Amino acid sequence: MAADRTDDAPGDAWTGWISVGRLASGLILFAYVTTHLLNHALGLWSIEAMQTAFAGFLQLWAPLPGTVLLYGAVTVHVTIALRAVILRDRFRDMWPPEIAQLVLGLAIPLLLIDHVIATRGAYEMYAAGSDYISTLHTMWVLAPELAFKQAVALIVAWTHGCIGLHFWLQFKGWYQRAHGPALAIAVIVPTLALSGFVASGMEIRQRAEQPGWADREAARMKRPDASENTEMFGLIDDARIGYLLLVLGAFVANGLRGSYHHRRRSLTLRYGTGEVVRATKGQTILEISRLQDIPHASVCGGRGRCSTCRVRIGAGLDRLQPPSEAEAKVLQRIGAPPNVRLACQTPVIDGLEVTPLLPPHSDTGAARGGPSYLHGRELDIAVLFADIRGFTTISEQRLPYDVVFILNRYFAEMGAAIEGSGGRLDKFIGDGIMALFGVDGDRSSGSRQALAAAKAMSERLIELNQSLAGDLDTPLRIGIGLHVGPCIVGEMGYGTVRGLTAVGDTVNTASRLEGLTKDEQVQLIVSEALVSASGLAPETGRGTEIEVRGRSQPMAIRCIDDARSLRL
Ligand code: FES
Repeated sequence: MAADRTDDAPGDAWTGWISVGRLASGLILFAYVTTHLLNHALGLWSIEAMQTAFAGFLQLWAPLPGTVLLYGAVTVHVTIALRAVILRDRFRDMWPPEIAQLVLGLAIPLLLIDHVIATRGAYEMYAAGSDYISTLHTMWVLAPELAFKQAVALIVAWTHGCIGLHFWLQFKGWYQRAHGPALAIAVIVPTLALSGFVASGMEIRQRAEQPGWADREAARMKRPDASENTEMFGLIDDARIGYLLLVLGAFVANGLRGSYHHRRRSLTLRYGTGEVVRATKGQTILEISRLQDIPHASVCGGRGRCSTCRVRIGAGLDRLQPPSEAEAKVLQRIGAPPNVRLACQTPVIDGLEVTPLLPPHSDTGAARGGPSYLHGRELDIAVLFADIRGFTTISEQRLPYDVVFILNRYFAEMGAAIEGSGGRLDKFIGDGIMALFGVDGDRSSGSRQALAAAKAMSERLIELNQSLAGDLDTPLRIGIGLHVGPCIVGEMGYGTVRGLTAVGDTVNTASRLEGLTKDEQVQLIVSEALVSASGLAPETGRGTEIEVRGRSQPMAIRCIDDARSLRL
């Protein structure tokens, strides 16, 4: 039972150990279930094949080390799951896979207690033997309802394990690429196991109809006698009741904990939106967001793995405990600056101010973090602005439908030219386009890419004009401005409208150069800085100088009539 995705108490020295314990015990149990299911699958071949493999299965799990490992894992996993139930803030915040994992996990002991006591328990208490033949005989002949329950237990245990594995692996890059095969394995293994279980059950029913088979089977292996059976069933009932009381106790403790926290709210937490809420000492920022219905991304459910809950700390940063080793590792992985913390791992202090950095519905893609410039960095990049000349006039003479059609065709062609040259489309503004080059590279490669994009745009424009000849009175003409220099690059925006963009003087200048193409009657204007960074022949185009607001010196530019003439 890989516990539900509940916050571990932050700053708790046990947190790391609990995560390790949950994962290790879950993997041991998953290995046990997998080997057991594969053993079942051999029923498609023959019962004897199941028996032979079962001997190997017992070699693995029956000796003392295997027993300690298996039952230790059960104890650790169930204990951590019940602890998680107690610490869960609100069950109604859980999303369907979390609910499924919790419900299925809690159901597993109930479904398997009798099987475990009737096999391993009977062996330990009464030296009663059990193997595939005896167990199949019990389940398919003596008490057929047990066969159905066992099939349900098989599906429940496997599904629970698969969900747990998925939660664990979902942030690993290789797993993202291995979704297909992983899903296939998740379906094939239980299908084969169930098929083997049913096939062997049918086989055992046929054998049981043969005269004398049941007597021979009874003589072959010692089974619990009537009084032992009575005692064993009593034990099964006690174990079920004991387990149910434990689960019930965990939910009651959860309710008591919630009302305790509610009464003791004495700290204030301020959000970047200006909202101020009350909090209790020891609660995390994410817990408070959930309790106060403040949308907050938390793809991993608060386990400190995904980083989607990250917040920028305003006031109070200097009073916060430093990040734990595990939190620091995640923050380092995403290149977070010192004022960014994981909300699920950071306990609230009085007067803390936080701003969640990702939209509430961020997915695992956001969880993978990304380059450090997403948080804001100064980068030397090339910036492109492009605009359709006289588009206002064109749009005034056409139906809205035609305008949208023409613009979308234009954006598709220009977008392909920019991306095909290695650039990043930043935004479309009206009929204008802004693009960035060299964000992942350097000044000179970005400059070369920008020039290549301008040339490709010009070439594609010719083709576009040919294909739109019937829709346009005059061909579309564009102006392009290119400049390179330092920009502040980062992920900016609000809510779902966020994206990588750049701001700064370089951006303004590139936009200004694009505007100048109209005055200079050319298609492309490139700053001299970009020409020299790209290695373009200095005699390209016509050189001139312009005044730029905020600069004491004039700026050297090159005016190029047709970007297709660029020799790159
Ligand atoms: S919710 Fe995933 S790291 Fe905090």
